[in-house]
Amino acid sequence: MGSPLVVVTVVLLVVALATTVVASVASYRRLRVRLESEVSSGPEQAHEPEGLREAEAARARLAGALEAVSQGVVVRDEAGREVFRNQAALAYVRGRHGEALVEQAIQEQFAALAEGGALRRTLDLYGPPRRVLLLSAVTLGDGPHPAGALVLVDDVSERRRLEAVRRDFVTNITHELKTPVGALGLLADTISIEDDAEVVRRLAARMTEEALRVGRIIDDLLDLSRIEAEEAPRHEPVPVHEVVSEAVERVRPLAQRRGIQVDTSDVVRSHAVRGDRRQLMSAVANLLENACKYSEEGSPVELRSRVEGEMVEVEVRDQGIGIPGRDLERVFERFYRVDRARSRETGGTGLGLAIVRHVATNHKGEVRVTSREGEGSVFTLRLPSAFPSGGPVPSGRVVVPVEVESR
Ligand SMILES: Nc1ncnc2c1ncn2[C@@H]1O[C@H](COP(=O)(O)OP(=O)(O)OP(=O)(O)O)[C@@H](O)[C@H]1O
Ligand SMILES: [Mg+2]
Repeated sequence: MGSPLVVVTVVLLVVALATTVVASVASYRRLRVRLESEVSSGPEQAHEPEGLREAEAARARLAGALEAVSQGVVVRDEAGREVFRNQAALAYVRGRHGEALVEQAIQEQFAALAEGGALRRTLDLYGPPRRVLLLSAVTLGDGPHPAGALVLVDDVSERRRLEAVRRDFVTNITHELKTPVGALGLLADTISIEDDAEVVRRLAARMTEEALRVGRIIDDLLDLSRIEAEEAPRHEPVPVHEVVSEAVERVRPLAQRRGIQVDTSDVVRSHAVRGDRRQLMSAVANLLENACKYSEEGSPVELRSRVEGEMVEVEVRDQGIGIPGRDLERVFERFYRVDRARSRETGGTGLGLAIVRHVATNHKGEVRVTSREGEGSVFTLRLPSAFPSGGPVPSGRVVVPVEVESR
């Protein structure tokens, strides 16, 4: 997405259309002038204005085609008169703030083109929201007599954002894998020259730990990419208590090791959500695992469910270390960990909550958190109920994917 090839293809397509628009506008004008002179020289000579109608139809077709492109298109004829502007570009006329700057940049592009100047320009609008626009100026027609000029305005903000996310992701994953892999190399080197059996045994145990860590990162990444790929998960009714039981099973070894009691008595048996059992289990298990990991040994963890209108809420409540207010907004980002040093001990990668958020979004639901440092956290997964009271859950409803609150 957003490759230079796509941009070039769009520009070429629009140029072809715009050239024809300019030509058809010109021929339309010529025909009109001819027709008017014919009319003025006597009604009997004013034949059926067939040509005029055809030219108008051709112009309307091409203008319609240019309306369909999402980019802003402004076309001028050879005399520098604006002969076409699609809906997307109309927003810049008499616009304020950022829009006015875009209009100014369009005019500058035409002026630069007339003087044989720059053809492409990136416009950064600092917003909010921050936007990046790519303006391409092209001369229309071949040969020494151009038929006009075109400026194309492409909003590449989303493309740039995705590129940045991908770059960050690659950097993060490289870093996350480099650390344990580097440690494995060092440990292996040390073992190869160590004679003391006891030290070798200790180093080998460390190697196993690091290898498990790499394995966990890869498992999380596979989970995340599978969930990301399944944008439209299965939508079958799934009883909440079944999802919770499976998640508790998955986290049981960790909970037992830490002496944590997981109380599920407030999970109502009749509550069911609509969705993909595997994804839902993965989300609840990640929340539960965090509740166990980020709590003191022996501290309680509670799960409960309740119905709120057409949504079912699944709540995971702990009395653990809590999350500082400044980090609350960021914990759902991939690889984000509140305390990296501590997470190294707990073996986290920072992908768990990214998975939870994805599952919530995929199900047209959301995940919320309230937390207080030193007192504990409550994560709430809100999902469409399988049995909405007022009929089926409306699809296409806009849901803010993550809502974060700090008490
Ligand atoms: N219940 C919780 N209590 C306190 N802090 C939490 C809780 N849940 C998450 N966090 C904080 O949010 C961070 C991100 O959580 P997330 O589940 O995404 O990653 P992780 O647990 O570090 O690693 P992973 O889940 O990939 O093994 C954690 O590192 C931790 O700092
Ligand atoms: Mg986690």
